[in-house]
Amino acid sequence: MPLRRASIRSRLTAIIMAASTISVLLTTIIISIIGVYNLKVGMMDELSLSASIVGDRNTAALLFNDDKLAESNMRVFSARSSILQACLYDKDGHVFASYGNEQENITPHCPGDLHERTVMGEQALEVMKPIVKMGERIGTIYIESDLHEIAAYIQKQTYIAVVVTLAVLFVSYLLAVVLQQGISKPVLSLAATAREISLNKDYSIRANPFGNRSAPDNNEIKVLTDSFNAMLQEIGERDSRLRQQNIELERARDAAEAANRAKSQFLANISHELRTPLNAIIGFSSILMNQLFGPLGDAKYMEYSKDINESGSHLLDIINDILDLAKAEAGKLTLNLEEVHVGKAIAKCVTILSDRATKGKVVIALDVPRNLPPLMADRLRFIQIVLNILSNAVKFTEEGGKVHIRASLREGTHQMAIVISDTGIGMAKEDVDKAFQSFGQVDSGLNRKYEGTGLGLPLTKKLMELHGGGISIDSEPGVGTRVTLMFPLTQPEAPEAL
Ligand SMILES: Nc1ncnc2c1ncn2[C@@H]1O[C@H](COP(=O)(O)OP(=O)(O)O)[C@@H](O)[C@H]1O
Ligand SMILES: [Mg+2]
Repeated sequence: MPLRRASIRSRLTAIIMAASTISVLLTTIIISIIGVYNLKVGMMDELSLSASIVGDRNTAALLFNDDKLAESNMRVFSARSSILQACLYDKDGHVFASYGNEQENITPHCPGDLHERTVMGEQALEVMKPIVKMGERIGTIYIESDLHEIAAYIQKQTYIAVVVTLAVLFVSYLLAVVLQQGISKPVLSLAATAREISLNKDYSIRANPFGNRSAPDNNEIKVLTDSFNAMLQEIGERDSRLRQQNIELERARDAAEAANRAKSQFLANISHELRTPLNAIIGFSSILMNQLFGPLGDAKYMEYSKDINESGSHLLDIINDILDLAKAEAGKLTLNLEEVHVGKAIAKCVTILSDRATKGKVVIALDVPRNLPPLMADRLRFIQIVLNILSNAVKFTEEGGKVHIRASLREGTHQMAIVISDTGIGMAKEDVDKAFQSFGQVDSGLNRKYEGTGLGLPLTKKLMELHGGGISIDSEPGVGTRVTLMFPLTQPEAPEAL
């Protein structure tokens, strides 16, 4: 239907015109039907009355058998052009006198059936009526009339209907053009405003409130326009709130970034400054411990100098980790790539940790094939990585537990996997993320039974990323932990990201 696609203006005009035209047509048709019915009833009555009058007049003619008089009486019908023919019968039913319409050139054909009737046929009206005098039937009269009047009436009505419909069409068009504006104008203006807003993304535009300012509050168009404007106002306010929030967020982010940079810088500086005196502490305590310049005397001195040396070394390890992490976060950690023999490097890590493993009654099993290709990596960092993970595995595994190191090539992916699994205390899934955060240690009730700083995993992760690889942890509390290190076999991309 093309009207569906037409503008609201044309649709409203069409609806108004259609409604008025249909009602005018319906009214005219109903009035005409009633008119035709009334006309027919009137004609029947009139015909019946004419029959009675002419019958009465012919009483004498019938009684005295005067057919001349009868013929002349019958001529009164010539005054009515609608009477086609008329017949007068005597009391025996013989035609006594008759009349035929001269204008229509009709020779009367009198019907033989004389019983009283009034018939409304398709073409004509017929009346057959007995003529009664003193209770006795002295004759019969028959009149036939045509229906010209009805046809003429219908024609006239049709003509009027056409004229009125045309007039109504014209007037309703003029009215519609004026009336529809009240509805279509604000709607079209709303549509135009909405289009403009969606095109320009300018929420400061407002829909024109039109002449609705004086309209009652329940006027739908007014409600629509007002709500539309209120919505725009809301969007505008929300926009500026968002912009303001964005500015504040950006400021906060800048401040946080600056603070983080300052923190990294501070850590790098302080770590550096701490290392110098620590080296002296470690060096001199080791001289004491080894009694390089003569015996210490009391055994307590020996014990204390050993404590100083161990604590100093531990502190140095921590400071080194902090420095590395700070450097990595500041993007200043660089790798010295070389071909690393994986088997040898892992064996070295195991050697370093073997004392601790033996003390903790933990078995370390190795599964490193001999024919592994060398890895392009920073040898010291590689050892640091494996050592971090392996030391965790040993540390968090109870007596009698087992730690397993496997190295293998992942076919098709050009990667080497080093998997370190243990049968230790494990950790819950949600704690794994925490373990990767700086200083993040999982609180497991057993917590402070294990010493550490929570720097190993975050640093390891950073180092793995620098190598173009990745680290993932599968762990289950009470069952064990499996850490997978993935190294790319090809040379890592220049680590500009870090
Ligand atoms: N193999 C493991 N088994 C159980 N928990 C582990 C294991 N490795 C790491 N974790 C948990 O992750 C935390 C962070 O590890 P890490 O960064 O190496 O710090 P640290 O070893 O200094 O505690 C540990 O404190 C521990 O709670
Ligand atoms: Mg650790």
